Amino acid sequence: MSGTNERVLSGIQPTMDSFHVGNWFGALTQWVDLQQTHDCFYCVVDLHALTVNHDPTAIKQRTLASVAQLFAIGIDPNKATVFVQSHLAEHSQLAWVLSCMAGFGEASRMTQFKDKSQKEGTDRSTVGLFTYPILQAADILLYQPSRVPVGDDQRQHLELTRDLAQRFNSTYGETFKIPETMTVVGNSRVLDLQDPTAKMSKSSPAGAVFLMDSNDQITKKIKSAVTDSDREVSFDPVAKPGIANLIGLLAAASEEELETIAAQVAGLGYGAFKQQVADALVARIEPIRETTKELLSDPATLQRQIQAGAQKARVVASSTMTAVNQRLGLLPESP
Ligand code: TYM
Repeated sequence: MSGTNERVLSGIQPTMDSFHVGNWFGALTQWVDLQQTHDCFYCVVDLHALTVNHDPTAIKQRTLASVAQLFAIGIDPNKATVFVQSHLAEHSQLAWVLSCMAGFGEASRMTQFKDKSQKEGTDRSTVGLFTYPILQAADILLYQPSRVPVGDDQRQHLELTRDLAQRFNSTYGETFKIPETMTVVGNSRVLDLQDPTAKMSKSSPAGAVFLMDSNDQITKKIKSAVTDSDREVSFDPVAKPGIANLIGLLAAASEEELETIAAQVAGLGYGAFKQQVADALVARIEPIRETTKELLSDPATLQRQIQAGAQKARVVASSTMTAVNQRLGLLPESP
């Protein structure tokens, strides 16, 4: 940490072996940048992964792979606190307290729950999926962050978090900092390569480029990205969402401003343009993929780093939880 004591907290689910470029360019690039100026806490939210069917033999490995990928994209464990949610009981404890303050109707309005439960059917959706945003609010509020860097799809959950924090503060006294949502310009909603009306997500593997994809897979996915019947590149997110999405990916991969890249590629034919996008992604992703594999070949070191992260996180989380219990008027264990 340098410069400021302001805190940042964010989280990511370990539901797959690999993050995708929606996660990376939509949220994680901010995580990397903020380490230079803020006291950052980054959490692999394995308890959230239990809300849908999870594979007990895979989740451990996926949690390790998630931490390895965070380090590979440039999160520095000496600067940021990287930890695993289930290692801190405080997350579940605060989630319970907040769930006693959240309205049933309020939770029912969360669009991610509505989408997922519609797909699964309400009978097959768990209560955990329903209360998921409350656990997310607990993840955040425990660390008293001033900012939460996320993709656009998390805005509603962040609003709920702010509402719950304000409600707690006004009922029991000032306890929580009210965090600001922080999104990137341009890529806060990276679109599915096969369906540019939907956001890129792990549930549509052909429409997503993963950080652990091979160079060939990346190139194939970009070349078969759905565009439109036009021939020349121009930046128009409404009329040409597929092309605008690829321009966003190219800008992020080349670490250039969106406008600069949009001007550079204007007028190119689709074939040449897609090749340029694929090459830029391969050039950035290949070293990340290789570094991730290297880090995963030494799980003992990763485990030690994760343990150190939990110890640092616990100092903050337990102090918030003690304050919460006091404000609630619960009897302390020691007099
Ligand atoms: P998750 O694991 O689905 O995604 C991690 C981060 O990636 C962003 N993201 C995207 N950004 C732009 N375009 C996309 N297509 C795209 N897909 C994903 C997400 O917005 C997110 O920032 N509920 C959260 C995890 C969470 C959390 C938290 C986040 C749990 N506790 C506390 C912040 C703070 C989620 O499911 O993200």
